[in-house]
Amino acid sequence: MKIKSTILTLAALLFMFTSCNNNAGSADMADNSSYKNKIFFTMENGELIRPTGYRSWVYVGTPVTPNDLNNGKAAFPEMHNVYIDPTSYDHYKNTGKFKEGTIIMKELVSVGSKAAVSGNGYFMGEFIGLEASVKSKEHFPDEPGNWAIFSFTQPKVGTLKERAKAFPYDACASCHDANAEDDFVFTQYYPVLRAAKNAGKGNPEDVSVRTASEKKIGIWEASAPTPQKKFDIPTDEKKLFAYLNSGKYKSLKVQEKEQHKSAGPHEYVRTFVSDKLAKSVKSGNSEHPIGSYAIKEQYKDGKQFGWAVMLKTGDKSNGGKGWFWYEATDRTDIASKAALGNGVKGCVSCHSIGQDMVRATFIK
Ligand code: HEC
Ligand code: HEC
Repeated sequence: MKIKSTILTLAALLFMFTSCNNNAGSADMADNSSYKNKIFFTMENGELIRPTGYRSWVYVGTPVTPNDLNNGKAAFPEMHNVYIDPTSYDHYKNTGKFKEGTIIMKELVSVGSKAAVSGNGYFMGEFIGLEASVKSKEHFPDEPGNWAIFSFTQPKVGTLKERAKAFPYDACASCHDANAEDDFVFTQYYPVLRAAKNAGKGNPEDVSVRTASEKKIGIWEASAPTPQKKFDIPTDEKKLFAYLNSGKYKSLKVQEKEQHKSAGPHEYVRTFVSDKLAKSVKSGNSEHPIGSYAIKEQYKDGKQFGWAVMLKTGDKSNGGKGWFWYEATDRTDIASKAALGNGVKGCVSCHSIGQDMVRATFIK
């Protein structure tokens, strides 16, 4: 472990040295040296002092989880402006890793207006909260990944706390651990960090291609191989498409009686689940047995147009890689495939809050 990290440090140094040489005197390099190795937070008696100045750090993105798309009760209502300290951003650019002492701030902003002259949408209103995520072996030697997560928000009081204690792992970090793309950070929602990762000395924003990052990530493509085993439903695309069109799954015992509006993106839906899966969901299992599957018919204007399918192909869910995902959006056209394979990130991102990926609530 020790040797490994020394090699890594050496490699990083060598890398930085070479890059310095190539670009001696560039503005970037001068900037870097002013905050090189600086730590942007202070811990006192086990509490994080509310950081300030973060609006001048590196801005990485703004996820939006508004109340009106979350039954009026989003866990983090509205917009989340996320910033990373500049030392850690540079380190991430150079090494592709979050360094010891990384701090990421998430500032919550209300939806101020839903219409502007540019069109309807979500427009930022007022600051309503502040959260922080910190990686530090020095301060959190016993936390998984050495990450600790904090909140300064006091919704009822209306002002921020001056200091905060870390939440227990189960309250916050566990979900980050299980679902975040890189270490404990949700880089899948931060194009700025994805573009920066391992970019080295260059400015990632100089790249002219504007669709590449989405393509590179391929969020609707498989991120893991599908095991070549036999299951109760086929995983071969042609055979699966034919199977779905045969309607054989309609004889499954556990099924919804009729279509209803999806709580997710699936338009109107009607779900059928395998006996194995139904039994496991009812028993409250956090790992469903291999071979479990669910098939969801998707409807629009009363007509069934396609299917979404999930099949467990491993003993372990493994962040969604142990599940096979499939979606076709036109039942007459196999080319309408929207997703195929194991660990499809676009599907997993939503399903990971389910009971081992299963989101349906009717199986009781
Ligand atoms: C059910 C999963 C889940 C739980 C539990 C959770 N978070 Fe997060 N958190 C997310 C997601 C997803 C994002 C990125 C997208 C967003 O902000 O909506 C995020 C982003 C963050 C960020 C920005 C840095 C990053 O890693 O992307 C902070 C800070 C944060 N959460 C704090 C908290 C705090 C504080 C708690 C506990 C009170 C908490 N989170 C609990 C899912 C979760
Ligand atoms: C935006 C969130 C979201 C995304 C993205 C998503 N789903 Fe779902 N899915 C849901 C929700 C919520 C349900 C529960 C039933 C409902 O309301 O539609 C569900 C249900 C299902 C079901 C029925 C079994 C279950 O878990 O309830 C299948 C099968 C399914 N989705 C497959 C997929 C596939 C394949 C993809 C990717 C192509 C996908 N889903 C992407 C939210 C999502």
